[in-house]
Amino acid sequence: MTGNTPVSAQQEGVSTPVTIGELLQSAASVIDRVDARWLLQSVLNVNAAFLITHAELLLSMEQIVYFQQLLARRVTGEPVAYLTGERGFYDLVFEVTPAVLIPRPETELLVEMALSKIPLDRRCNILDLGTGSGVVAITIAKHRPDAYVTAVDLSPLALAVARRNARRYSMENVVFIEADWFSCFVREKFDVIVANPPYIVEGDPHLEADGLRFEPSVALVAQNNGLDCICRIIAQTPDYLEQSGWLMLEHGYDQADTCRRLLDKTGFFHIFTKSDLAGIDRVTGGQYGLVPA
Ligand SMILES: C[S@@+](CC[C@H](N)C(=O)[O-])C[C@H]1O[C@@H](n2cnc3c(N)ncnc32)[C@H](O)[C@@H]1O
Repeated sequence: MTGNTPVSAQQEGVSTPVTIGELLQSAASVIDRVDARWLLQSVLNVNAAFLITHAELLLSMEQIVYFQQLLARRVTGEPVAYLTGERGFYDLVFEVTPAVLIPRPETELLVEMALSKIPLDRRCNILDLGTGSGVVAITIAKHRPDAYVTAVDLSPLALAVARRNARRYSMENVVFIEADWFSCFVREKFDVIVANPPYIVEGDPHLEADGLRFEPSVALVAQNNGLDCICRIIAQTPDYLEQSGWLMLEHGYDQADTCRRLLDKTGFFHIFTKSDLAGIDRVTGGQYGLVPA
């Protein structure tokens, strides 16, 4: 293997042994070095330390060919998480498929805010709207074993992934329901409602860039300038919140003011907005019902 030429098993032939180090070096000429490591870890089913400590290990032709297939798909822009089938979120690793949004680090803020409002000393009912792979619901359920988490999504394919993720962690305090936001509930009330709804404006050029074009548009795009789902959720939430319960929403970088206005108009109090690690307004929420004395 020489210079900047991407690895080719056919080129190399079975007679030319390739080591982990050589394969990674070659791949790094066409994709990001970290992505190359993730792909090889997935092919070999090893961790990052193994790649470093076994750089001289010779790979089999099957391993090289499989890696090349993933590399070729990565070169077209397909996200690493869809290629490896996994993504870390908060302190767990979740299965992801192209049926679900790839969990984002900024959504961990939504989980943190929810955890901060869920008391440890009593059983609470939590609702996660638009659960996708189930990361928010499962992480909350894991950190609050006394809470009972209900998670809703419109997509049966996404719910299948979420249910597998819940089984992976033997979760017994989370249930998944196929529904259009609150449509499956009659009289249920929740202490905390969280949502990371679709909020990208239809036709936003970012949708064609990077990995976004591989992700389900039902998870990304919302009508009404990206605000349709947010508006519907805020408008319907009062019917499903316990007295002084909390609603928290993840939103786009320029949607915090609108969310705050909508919450205020709907009768929420203690309205807050939190920025993510990039300093971007990301989660807005408030409490509903009687203002505590
Ligand atoms: C931005 S993704 C969030 C996924 C996951 N909660 C996360 O944070 O990674 C939005 C999710 O909302 C779901 N969704 C879109 N419209 C919906 C609706 N009307 N009712 C319920 N879920 C909906 C999508 O299928 C998608 O899984």
